Amino acid sequence: MTGAGAFITFEGGDGSGKSTQIKLLHDRLVAENIGVVITREPGGTLIGEQIRKVILDPQNIEMTSKTEMFLYAAARAQIADEVIWPALREGKVVICDRFLDSSVAYQGVARGLGRMVEEVNIPAAGGLVPDLTIYLKIEPDEGLDRTGNRKDRMELQDIMYHRSVAEGYRMIAERNPLRVKVLDATESITLLRNKIWDTVAVRLAKKGYSVR
Ligand code: TYD
Repeated sequence: MTGAGAFITFEGGDGSGKSTQIKLLHDRLVAENIGVVITREPGGTLIGEQIRKVILDPQNIEMTSKTEMFLYAAARAQIADEVIWPALREGKVVICDRFLDSSVAYQGVARGLGRMVEEVNIPAAGGLVPDLTIYLKIEPDEGLDRTGNRKDRMELQDIMYHRSVAEGYRMIAERNPLRVKVLDATESITLLRNKIWDTVAVRLAKKGYSVR
């Protein structure tokens, strides 16, 4: 656990609507007068955004699974030290659009790299473990429909790949029932927003934040 501050991650297949819900949660925390920082993976830092371009560029068809795994881990190492740890030390709530669970689902399970992903990412994440993970669950076919025509390198992977990602998330949720809250991404934006806030408020109250 992180000690001071609270670290909340959002996970889900492509097109699960994470960004919309992250924005709504951010606005609610601001309204509650709670210091909050939003960030995303891969990216969230100048260096991370450059790494992101390399990873997601549809032209990089030669990229091996291992290279992909290390690039995500490299972006994570940078954001953990540059953004997440400092904000947590200031007592802020950090909301991260994807974190280590994405690597476990996409590289560990779907690319078949297995345990290596966790082994590489433990030093990369520098011991960071989310206090709470909101997993917005969506059927892969539906999620990909929602991403429209402009697909990045990961979204261009075939449907079997995205089904394995969903299986990866199912395993992660099963293994971490206290940390991971699974919600149905097809529910209305307002209903989801309310469910997410209820879950976050309970977790923050336990960490000593005053929330309404
Ligand atoms: P992004 O545009 O941020 O996708 P989304 O809006 O769905 O979050 O692109 C990130 C892509 O990278 C997404 O397809 C998931 C993938 N990814 C991994 O494969 N491993 C990782 O460790 C992370 C953080 C993301």
